[in-house]
Amino acid sequence: MENFTYYTPTKVVFGKGTENQTGALVKEQHCKKVLIHYGSGSVVRSGLLDRIKTSLDEAAVSYVELGGVVPNPRLSLVYEGIELCKKENVDFILAVGGGSVIDSAKAIGYGVYNGGDVWDFYDFKRQAEGCLPIGAVLTIAAAGSEMSGSSVITKEDGQIKRGYSSNFSRARFAVMNPELTMTLPPYQTASGCVDILMHTMERYFNQCDNMELTDGISESLMRTVMKNAKILKDEPANYDARAEVMWAGSLSHNGLTGCGTDGGDWATHKMEHEIGGLFDVAHGAGLAALWGSWARFVLDARPARFAQFATHVLGVTAGADDTETALKGIEAMEDFYHSINMPVSLSELGVTPTPEQIRTMAEKCDISTHHNAGKVKHLSVEDMVAIYTT
Ligand code: NZQ
Ligand code: ZN
Repeated sequence: MENFTYYTPTKVVFGKGTENQTGALVKEQHCKKVLIHYGSGSVVRSGLLDRIKTSLDEAAVSYVELGGVVPNPRLSLVYEGIELCKKENVDFILAVGGGSVIDSAKAIGYGVYNGGDVWDFYDFKRQAEGCLPIGAVLTIAAAGSEMSGSSVITKEDGQIKRGYSSNFSRARFAVMNPELTMTLPPYQTASGCVDILMHTMERYFNQCDNMELTDGISESLMRTVMKNAKILKDEPANYDARAEVMWAGSLSHNGLTGCGTDGGDWATHKMEHEIGGLFDVAHGAGLAALWGSWARFVLDARPARFAQFATHVLGVTAGADDTETALKGIEAMEDFYHSINMPVSLSELGVTPTPEQIRTMAEKCDISTHHNAGKVKHLSVEDMVAIYTT
């Protein structure tokens, strides 16, 4: 087992009706003015935004608001948020929405706290020295941003999608009512489940051994998400299934399933971010579309690990050797993706990049990974071109 630091400072308030505690939770932060940050309208239509405002009013917390965050959140709105926070002396940001809203809130928080151009952090030019405190009311189980230290922002100029991570941006609290996710379109529910799975799979596919407990937690998490993703396809209002998936979403990306590992692979994520930047697809669906190609490409570097995934997570019967078992596992995973209407190729994702676009994505990914994409197998630009093309 590798040495590790496990840091999860986020207070989780989970369950039915918990959004009504938001005002009290913000009050605990002793802030003077809050920015309520939200997306493109789902929280308005569901009435959640009004309930949050009522909760803040009851706690005598004053606020301003900024909506309009889109999936693959844009840098231009982050700049707008930074200016608004400075003008209004905002000292706490409340994100009401999904990963995109929370990520946008984190970026605004970095910009206000540190000054200068916030894109510098995403462009590897400098490190943040802090971030305005963030709270989250989560409306989709997917990105795990409510407990992670990451945020991912898209710069419109150049269509560059980049992540930046630091513990400064970890949410002070996360309000998680699984009922709030019942209004999600089925595609977003399924895409979220893929993202949750992938946050653990990225960590699970590593170059380590001897992580019995972490492997056990990870395998249980993945089986739980797969089982409940299938239930939600037919029963979107099943509270228990929503709850299992929502809690898995946070645990999958708060660091727990990486404890004792070398950090994991992350090539599929990095390669997907290039697709998201260029084609604006749902992140989880993009991951599903790429994973099989990646897995077949790197399988020979870790056949035993892929075989363990196949037998422990997918219930595959072992074949003649690890490679045969592993290949059956990859196929079973793709069958699962299909079973929840997720794509397993770029064409199924609805994206048909030209050869030039594929090369551009591979080259951009090489830069964003500091020429070090992949852990199971290091991927060159040519390797990534091959994975995008398969
Ligand atoms: O904007 P609204 O109107 O709210 O609609 C959203 C959006 O269209 C909708 N939605 C959310 N909750 C809803 C709802 N619709 C109905 N009812 C509800 N309860 O769902 C759509 C997707 O929302 P979004 O926030 O984009 O989803 P997700 O949480 O999947 O976030 C995706 C973003 O997070 C990044 C991704 O790259 C992508 O940009 N990631 C962030 C990570 C992190 N910060 O740790 C890690 C991830 O790997 C990921 O990269
Ligand atoms: Zn993800």
